[in-house]
Amino acid sequence: MPGVLVRGIVPFERDVSAVPWSDGERARRYDSDDNRHFYGTLLSRLVAGVVPFPRGRGLDLGCGSGFATEKLVQAFPGVAWEGVDVSSPMLARAAVKPTLADVSLRHAAAEALPYATGSFDVVVSNFSWHWFGAGAGNEVLRVLRPGGWLLVSAPLRQFSHADGNRWLARRLHGCRRDFRRLGSQGMRIEEMANLLPGNMRIHRLESAVIEERFPDAAALLATLESRGSLYAIFGTDGCGVSGEVPAVGLPFEWHVGLLHAQVN
Ligand SMILES: C[S@@+](CC[C@H](N)C(=O)[O-])C[C@H]1O[C@@H](n2cnc3c(N)ncnc32)[C@H](O)[C@@H]1O
Repeated sequence: MPGVLVRGIVPFERDVSAVPWSDGERARRYDSDDNRHFYGTLLSRLVAGVVPFPRGRGLDLGCGSGFATEKLVQAFPGVAWEGVDVSSPMLARAAVKPTLADVSLRHAAAEALPYATGSFDVVVSNFSWHWFGAGAGNEVLRVLRPGGWLLVSAPLRQFSHADGNRWLARRLHGCRRDFRRLGSQGMRIEEMANLLPGNMRIHRLESAVIEERFPDAAALLATLESRGSLYAIFGTDGCGVSGEVPAVGLPFEWHVGLLHAQVN
């Protein structure tokens, strides 16, 4: 809907070109069983108890290699799901999954969606919105029909006292000379609402914690790297694993924001 103003603020500086899944090797590392479990769990938390039960045409925005899409197809068979992502290697991985054989996948950016106005009943974005530029809100509003739903999960900029989080915080502090702020570092829960265009009504906005346990610090860093988290903070080089390495069995907590909104 051209002319609708985004009332949102941009909570931190983003560089939309800095999306870490543009090459095949990164997409391959992302597309692991551990990540399927993590993103699948997150998606289940996002759609738990969703009312009304979605029907019609649905878009998985920033669908990547399709972890959330697989869950959506399973959970809401009454919806004709489609996926869109800016990374062609990620889409190529989604395209060969038998569970997604009936899902139409498009290579495009959230800020310029290749769909007609008012053509979707529901748009879901699982851990992708924090990579989008400011135009994504207006585009989502444009492609949703009046009364259509938007469900978003995104990382919160919040550190807990779990061992893995404390270790990472010390690690980040030690590497701070090398910091190169890119994007995707998470937002505060109250900032999530501000990403939306003005004429959407928020029905649910809450935080949740997803717990994971890693065998050691190297495994934690490898996972963060595959999810784009280290890339977002350090750039392409990461920060390495030298120095203090904590004991085996490292718990880590992801603080996430869950948002349900509806077009007025
Ligand atoms: C952390 S992955 C999440 C993928 C998927 N939603 C899942 O649950 O597994 C983030 C995805 O957002 C995509 N992305 C980043 N910026 C984008 C943009 N501007 N438009 C569309 N997709 C984008 C990336 O290519 C990547 O596949």
